[in-house]
Amino acid sequence: EFVVRIASSGRALTVPSGKTVLAVLQEHGIEIPVSCEQGICGTCVTRVLSGTPEHRDHYLLDEERAANDRFTPCCSRACSPELVLDL
Ligand code: FES
Repeated sequence: EFVVRIASSGRALTVPSGKTVLAVLQEHGIEIPVSCEQGICGTCVTRVLSGTPEHRDHYLLDEERAANDRFTPCCSRACSPELVLDL
């Protein structure tokens, strides 16, 4: 599991192994635009202010992945213990 921190509020939300970041955000009333929920469309792309995403999408280009400044919360996870999201 890992933690996503919401930059605007400072809230820290735990993402357990069986749940997506998107599901955890929605459970806490944080709505972001989504469509495919499979890492294909890019609708959910969210800026990452710190931490390292584990990219599981098929949307971002290799150089965008390497920059680690955005990720797809519908399917991607974290390599670092915490991701700070620009939400
Ligand atoms: Fe399509 Fe996340 S909703 S990539």
